[in-house]
Amino acid sequence: MDFKDVVMQRYACRTFTSETIPESKIDELLELIRWTASGLNLQTWRIRVVRDPATRQAIAEAAWGQQQVANCSHLLVLCAVHDVLGQTEKLQKALMASGLSEAESAQRVGYAKKMCAQMPPPALVKFADQQVFLALGNAINGAKSLGLDSCPMTGFDAAKVAALLGLPEGIVPTALCPLGYGAGGPTPRMRFAAEDILI
Ligand SMILES: Cc1cc2nc3c(=O)[nH]c(=O)nc-3n(C[C@H](O)[C@H](O)[C@H](O)COP(=O)(O)O)c2cc1C
Repeated sequence: MDFKDVVMQRYACRTFTSETIPESKIDELLELIRWTASGLNLQTWRIRVVRDPATRQAIAEAAWGQQQVANCSHLLVLCAVHDVLGQTEKLQKALMASGLSEAESAQRVGYAKKMCAQMPPPALVKFADQQVFLALGNAINGAKSLGLDSCPMTGFDAAKVAALLGLPEGIVPTALCPLGYGAGGPTPRMRFAAEDILI
């Protein structure tokens, strides 16, 4: 499926069939998400895949009853890592493991640390959250490219979802992405006129 078809055919799916997505497809999708671009390459996201129907039902209740959370096949809970500086330590190790020299890794990490040091705490949190939304973009378009339907979502209580999943502090649910096979065909879509997006 070419990218144009992915973008034009994807829609926010709120009703899924009872068909379960094969785990191999979920793995493919997670790989597309893993390769999302991120500021300073800090990859400030963690993803929980929720398969258990009872947990999805409980999360649906924390999402004001939105039933796509319960009736999907798999639910991705995309979380932001708010310890952005901690991610710079992780980056050093990962860069060296990817084959970069110690000097070059240290130089990149030094730059990342310098940038982070200039941001006040709320800006660091915002930075972490922004990366998650790019990952969400890869998730919804990636899903379509794999023949899956999805719904990007922020309408939920993050603290309740974190508690339900037993997430550690600093790993903050930021977006949900129910996945499955849409029932009843795409819902009509609308966008503002092309001239309206230019300023
Ligand atoms: C960041 C974000 C949050 C959203 N949150 C919700 C949500 O909580 N519940 C929902 O049903 N749809 C949610 N949506 C889906 C939008 O309503 C939908 O993308 C928009 O109406 C455009 O429709 P389309 O995706 O079918 O083109 C969200 C979309 C985005 C990008």
